[in-house]
Amino acid sequence: MRQLRTISAMRGWRGSVSDRLVLVPTMGALHHGHAALIRRARKLAGKNGAVCVSIFVNPTQFGPKEDFSAYPRPLAQDLALCRAEAVDAVFLPKASDMYLPDASVVLQESSLSQTLCGRSREGHFSGVLTVVAKLFLITLPTHAIFGEKDWQQLALIRRMVRDLNMPLEIAGCPTFREPDGLAASSRNAYLTPAERAAAPRIYSSLKKAAALRSIPAALRAARRDLEAISGARVDYIEAVDASTLGPLRNRNSPGRLAAAVYLGKARLIDNIPLPALS
Ligand code: PAJ
Repeated sequence: MRQLRTISAMRGWRGSVSDRLVLVPTMGALHHGHAALIRRARKLAGKNGAVCVSIFVNPTQFGPKEDFSAYPRPLAQDLALCRAEAVDAVFLPKASDMYLPDASVVLQESSLSQTLCGRSREGHFSGVLTVVAKLFLITLPTHAIFGEKDWQQLALIRRMVRDLNMPLEIAGCPTFREPDGLAASSRNAYLTPAERAAAPRIYSSLKKAAALRSIPAALRAARRDLEAISGARVDYIEAVDASTLGPLRNRNSPGRLAAAVYLGKARLIDNIPLPALS
């Protein structure tokens, strides 16, 4: 497995890949959810293709009061996971190589980024889209894989690729959950044992609510159950159209039920499908 620590090393290695190149962008602290993405990437790459995982804790997507410095960076463990998953190359750029001190161009999206996490994390998606666009331009993948756990991020990346005619395919990967239903996340490490024991109630609340036919009833039920989790503060609970992320007004088209909940030091997000009803 190659470790590529500079943009020019990355470009050099890219030149040696003639078949598919599947990119899995991450911020490290890799867990089973990332491993699921890597496995999907391996399948998509096929026998002759290559899989590249990028590990970069992107400073521009963290707000001033967020956890950029506290974000876990267990590099040796991350490299071991990538090796075990037969990754071909890991791209590990330095922040100073990715962002020149006088960088002045960023990507801004004006519709899908205005709801859900975009409301409480100002500038977050501009940071995400800018770094993902840079990673695409540096690595020139034929395919890139993102998790459905971050549904809004996945929808925004699909929109960016569509609107800017980026020449690659985006694949989504279903949310990987721990046996008790909690969506795997690097931020689960912030939870105390009591918070960790309560955290699966986020998913169970969403599932219970999604079984109701009426959207307002589902939202009321989910909010009530989430607010009943001791120590939890609900940031949002919303039903949105699965692709436009606009408010879901009826069950004629596919939707998502999405929530963000502060639990102790962690801000946890999750979402599940609200299938169209016939
Ligand atoms: P990170 O949080 O490290 O996540 C990297 C990828 O793993 C994302 O596509 C995310 O949706 C996916 N992922 C995380 N937990 C998952 C789970 N439990 N099941 C399935 N997929 C999961 O998302 C980012 O990094 C960054 O914003 C990034 C796109 C790398 C840009 O900096």
